Amino acid sequence: MERRQLLKQSAFAIAAFSFSRELFANASNTTFDSSTLNKSNMLNSMIRLGSNENPHGPSTLAKQAMIDAVGISNRYQWDMNAELKTAIANMTGHTKDHIALGAGSSELLGIVSLWAAYKKGNVVASEPTFKLWMPAARRMGLPTKLVPLTSTKHNDLNGIMNAMDQETKMVYLCNPNNPTGTVSPTSELENFIKKVASTTIVLLDEAYTDYYDTPSMSKMIDAYPNLVIAKTFSKTFGMAGARVGYVLAHPNTIKQLNEFQAWANAGPSAVSMQGALAAIKDKAFVTYCKQENIKAKEILYQGFDALGIKHIKSFTSFVYFDTATYKKDIPALLLANQITGARSFEQNSTWLRISIGTVTEMEKVVAVLKLGA
Ligand SMILES: Cc1ncc(COP(=O)(O)O)c(C=O)c1O
Repeated sequence: MERRQLLKQSAFAIAAFSFSRELFANASNTTFDSSTLNKSNMLNSMIRLGSNENPHGPSTLAKQAMIDAVGISNRYQWDMNAELKTAIANMTGHTKDHIALGAGSSELLGIVSLWAAYKKGNVVASEPTFKLWMPAARRMGLPTKLVPLTSTKHNDLNGIMNAMDQETKMVYLCNPNNPTGTVSPTSELENFIKKVASTTIVLLDEAYTDYYDTPSMSKMIDAYPNLVIAKTFSKTFGMAGARVGYVLAHPNTIKQLNEFQAWANAGPSAVSMQGALAAIKDKAFVTYCKQENIKAKEILYQGFDALGIKHIKSFTSFVYFDTATYKKDIPALLLANQITGARSFEQNSTWLRISIGTVTEMEKVVAVLKLGA
């Protein structure tokens, strides 16, 4: 690739992504009037259930590691990239050459879409799914074909396969899917990856696999160089604000992706990388977060059952539910009780997503819904 062309495209990508970051911030707090409120103070005093953040994190070890790392943040810490990649390689059973790091997995979803946009063509994805990367991808000239989920709100793998054509340069799959929390059976996913043309990137977003030990498809990356798996420290590790993510792919694929991370000092900061290194070692914390997530989710399920609210069994830290049988406007009712984040991801639909907070927070959600019913 010609360097000037790459830089031009990268600059365009940076502009596109910074724009979409603001859009995303607005979307996750849709119900606020930013002109009249001190948004961040207001948010801190509320129960925040809009962005699937881990309410317990970061772990004590990760916090201490980040505090300790502040003192070395006057220096570039290029060696730390290799250290973190090695730790991730050991955790995932790959080598450090199979890994690229990003400031959160969003950065890497963007870089993979930039790579696909450079190839010129289209991208196929589910509707609804995690869309943070999509507006920027469109602006980079990568139109998106959206395929509705099945009636059970699962990714429609056959439908996606049928929607792909010779111009499809990327297919994005989120498994478990955000916002529905559903998982595709491993064998179906495997067959799907095998069938996709080797010239089409399969971008598989596994942000939530850790909550229920959903099998990762990363075992296929050596045999399928078009497969890119995105992972994050934002969820079970509780480090969303620290911005650490990574992709797993064939070493040749990683080399090509590195070409598109043209801003050489991109990726997580030294402080965040130290946090991630410590977080990997703190297995007890992750186990605790997973158990608390299950407990808090059970409380919500029971509340929904008692109120006759249909919901989907979720393999993640959020739940998709149908408000059709509830008389009041649930987001407004929750907001009136200092709970923000229940929101819609489909046009003209009664389905909403709500993130799972702590046990106490979910008890409050249920109490509010019961009082309002
Ligand atoms: C499916 C999915 N992928 C990626 C991300 C972005 O994660 P990160 O914080 O690593 O950028 C999110 C965040 O909510 C997500 O839900």
